[in-house]
Amino acid sequence: MKLNLALLPGDGVGPEVLSQAVKCLQAVEETFNHQFIYREAPIGAYAIDKYGTSLPEKTLDLCKTSDAILFGAIGDPKYDNNPEAKTRPEEGLLELRKSLGLFANIRPVKAFSSLSEKSPLKKEIIENVDFIIYRELTGGIYFGEKKTNEDGTIASDLCEYSEKEISRVAHLAFKAAKNRDGKLTLVDKANVLESSRLWRKVVSKIAESYPEVKLDYLFVDNAAMQLILNPRQFDVILTENMFGDILSDEASVIGGSIGLLASASIGEENALFEPIHGSYPQAKGMDIANPVASILSAAMLLEHHSLFEEAMAVREAVDKALKKGVVTTDLNEKSQYGTNQVGDFIADNIVDSDEPFTMNDENIDLGKSTII
Ligand code: IPM
Ligand code: MN
Repeated sequence: MKLNLALLPGDGVGPEVLSQAVKCLQAVEETFNHQFIYREAPIGAYAIDKYGTSLPEKTLDLCKTSDAILFGAIGDPKYDNNPEAKTRPEEGLLELRKSLGLFANIRPVKAFSSLSEKSPLKKEIIENVDFIIYRELTGGIYFGEKKTNEDGTIASDLCEYSEKEISRVAHLAFKAAKNRDGKLTLVDKANVLESSRLWRKVVSKIAESYPEVKLDYLFVDNAAMQLILNPRQFDVILTENMFGDILSDEASVIGGSIGLLASASIGEENALFEPIHGSYPQAKGMDIANPVASILSAAMLLEHHSLFEEAMAVREAVDKALKKGVVTTDLNEKSQYGTNQVGDFIADNIVDSDEPFTMNDENIDLGKSTII
């Protein structure tokens, strides 16, 4: 298969984690005889510094004409701490999502058994956790009207949703639930918010067309608690933009590190794949950032193009790295491995994915294993 891929490294550790994902895609090309063409474009703080805008037109054009977009990370502290800043790096990503109509953000959360000791949550709580968050991505409070009064003492952000915005992401979530364990949880704040009441109305109507799926509802404050009390109860979570943003960061503690969570942002015509973590500016250029989320985002990209065997080879190589302790220091503070070495190990194992896995998983003491 031939695929045109847009690479948007962005800020902070974005470029270094993205390069590891590209290494893995190159290993897939070699092993499975595909041809991927990579074209890079600026976005975020990097683009503001160079071109005065966080989303240059040529970046948007490249994305529109690509088969998929692989994104690194966005954000820079020099903007975070300056409320007066005229333009912000994050605007580039938001504008990109909006312009490409990437309305569904899909964030799988899975507890890797090899990392069960790593999570701050108890092993019995996180064992076998496997759910997926469908976050609406181009509506709600992120994109509603923003206002500040003249003397700058009152500000507001409007949270608005239309039936259409709710139903298109809801259908995707119902389809996913139908192919999984058949359970969909709508997370909202319908006891307070009018927009949440519209979500309930629209989603419960759609549920009638999916009799195989059991729909239940949870208020977002309770959902935040349930995610850490009993995360196994979830199969597919459907929620609006901001609740999804917050809950997916919370859910990342289940796996032990936010550096493991990948995501896909899907629209009618385009699709973008990115780690859910931020730009982690303190780690920039230090070769310590975890590349796994970016590599798993590449696996989601392959699945999106129905390259299932290829995606599986990537996932198996990631599992092997985790089991053998070839991980960055967020997963094992004594680890000797840097971003690049973890990327190399995973890419090498994609090429050799037929090789039998000879080490006994049970005996691998994460962090103590030695790889030569
Ligand atoms: C995410 C990020 C973005 C968001 C930021 C960078 C705008 O936190 O993808 O979750 O809030 O959506
Ligand atoms: Mn976020």
